[in-house]
Amino acid sequence: MTAKTFYIETFGCQMNAHDSEKVIGTLVSRGYSQVETPEAAGLVLYNTCSIRDKAEQKVFNRLQQFKRDAGKGKVFGVLGCVAQQEGEKIFERAPHVSLVAGSASYTKLPQMLVQLEAGERRVTGLSLDTDETFETPFTRRDNPHRAYITIIEGCDKSCAYCVVPFTRGPERSRTGESVIAEARRLADAGYTEIQLLGQNVNSYRDPSAAGWDFATLLARVGEVPGIRRVRFTTSHPRDFVKAIVDAIDSNPVLCDHVHLPVQSGSNRVLNAMDRLYTLDEYMRRIEWLKNARRNIAITTDIIVGFPGETEADFNATLALLDEVQYDSLFSFKYSPRPNTAALAMSDQIPEEEKTRRVMMVQERQRAIQIRRNSEAIGAVQEVLVEGRNQAMGQWIGRTSQNRTLNFVHENGNGTDFRGQYLHVRVTRAGPNSLVGESVM
Ligand code: SAH
Ligand code: SF4
Ligand code: F3S
Repeated sequence: MTAKTFYIETFGCQMNAHDSEKVIGTLVSRGYSQVETPEAAGLVLYNTCSIRDKAEQKVFNRLQQFKRDAGKGKVFGVLGCVAQQEGEKIFERAPHVSLVAGSASYTKLPQMLVQLEAGERRVTGLSLDTDETFETPFTRRDNPHRAYITIIEGCDKSCAYCVVPFTRGPERSRTGESVIAEARRLADAGYTEIQLLGQNVNSYRDPSAAGWDFATLLARVGEVPGIRRVRFTTSHPRDFVKAIVDAIDSNPVLCDHVHLPVQSGSNRVLNAMDRLYTLDEYMRRIEWLKNARRNIAITTDIIVGFPGETEADFNATLALLDEVQYDSLFSFKYSPRPNTAALAMSDQIPEEEKTRRVMMVQERQRAIQIRRNSEAIGAVQEVLVEGRNQAMGQWIGRTSQNRTLNFVHENGNGTDFRGQYLHVRVTRAGPNSLVGESVM
C-alpha cells in the first residue's frame, strides 16, 4: 500500500452503515485517514449487501471500474454480506481484490490490516463460528445527533428467501450493561437520538445474569438521561410481544413507530416463506399497536412474486394493505438468492409479472399514504431538525412517527436549527412527506 489512506463505500441496511462506522473508526485508530474518492485512496473498501441480486451486482461493477489500478499501490477489499457469501470466489472473479471479510470477522480487522500492509495478496476473514460481537471503542459516527447501537448480530430464523442467516451468522446479543453504557456515553457526547439495531431485535436476550429481554432493554435505554428519542429496527412479528407496546406507551422517549415486516398477506405464502406466523397472529400484533394510547405509526416490508404466489395470494396482500393502512412500506420483487430454500422452489414468477405486482402495491400504498398523511394536517408535531433545503427555503425535520416534515421558520435567519427539537404545525401533506411552519 502506498499511503495509509482509505476510501469506503457502503451498500445495504443500517447494520452495514453502522458496521462501516466501526470499520472507519478502527482504521483511523491504526493511523489511516479517510479520503473522498477511490482514486485518492491506497486502500479501497466496499462494504457490500447481498439481499437482492441487484445489490450484489453493484460491487462487481465497482470493482470492474478500477481493475487497472490494482498493483499500482492500490489495495482492494470486499467486506460485508457479499464477502461472506462468495468468500474466496471473489478472488477468482476479481483477482485484484486482496481482502475478503464478513462482518463476523471485523474484530480481527487490525490483524488483517497488518497482513495487507506486509503485502499479502489474499487476506480473508470468513469464519462464522464466532460468538463475538463487533464492539469497538473507535466508532466514527456519521450523524452528529442520531447514533446507532447494535444490540444483536446475526439471525436464527430461516426465511426461505433470505441470505442474512448465511451472511451474518447465528444470533449474538450484547450485554444490557454494555448497551446502556454506550447509550450513556453517547448522551454525554451530545447525541439525543438512539437507534437500536439488529436483524431481529425482538429476539434480543441479554447474555449476562440480568437476562433482559428486548422490551426491558428498550425501556432502560429510554431512561438514559439526555436521550430524547429511541428507535429500533427490525422487528420480526413472531417475536414481537405486547410488552414492547406497553414500553412505548409508558415513555414518550420511545418513538411512535414500529416497523413490522409482514412480507405477504397470504397464509399459504407466509408458510412457504417459513415466516413462522399466520396472518391472524400478525393481525393480533397490529391490534396491540392500534389500541395503544400513543398514535404509533406502523410500517412494513412486502415481497411480491415469491415462488408460487398466485393472483389470489397477491390480492390477499393488497387486501392487507387496505386493512392495516400502513404509514409507509418498502416493497420488493422476490430475488432468488444463493443457499436459500426458495431457490429450488418450482413455479418461479416471471419478471414482468413481478414488476406488475410491485407497481400495484406501490400505487395502492401511495393512495393510502396520501390519506394517512393528510390526517396530520393542523396538528402540531415535534421534529428533530435534520437538515436544510436551501432551494426550498425549508428546514427538514423528522417526527417521532418517522415522517419527514419540511417546514419554514419565521425567525432565526442565519440560525442553524440542525439538531434542535422544534414544534411544527402541519399545513400540507403529500404521499411521502409533510409540510408545515414552526410554532413558537
Ligand atoms: N431482518 C429483517 C430483514 C432484513 S432484509 C426482517 O426480518 O425484517 C429487509 C427486507 O428485504 C426484508 O424484510 C424483505 O422484505 C426483503 N428481502 C429479503 N430477502 C429478499 C429477497 N430474496 N428478495 C426480495 N426481497 C427480499
Ligand atoms: Fe432474513 Fe428472516 Fe432473518 Fe429477517 S428474520 S434477516 S428476513 S431470515
Ligand atoms: Fe444487505 Fe447484509 Fe444488510 S445482505 S440488507 S447488508 S444484512
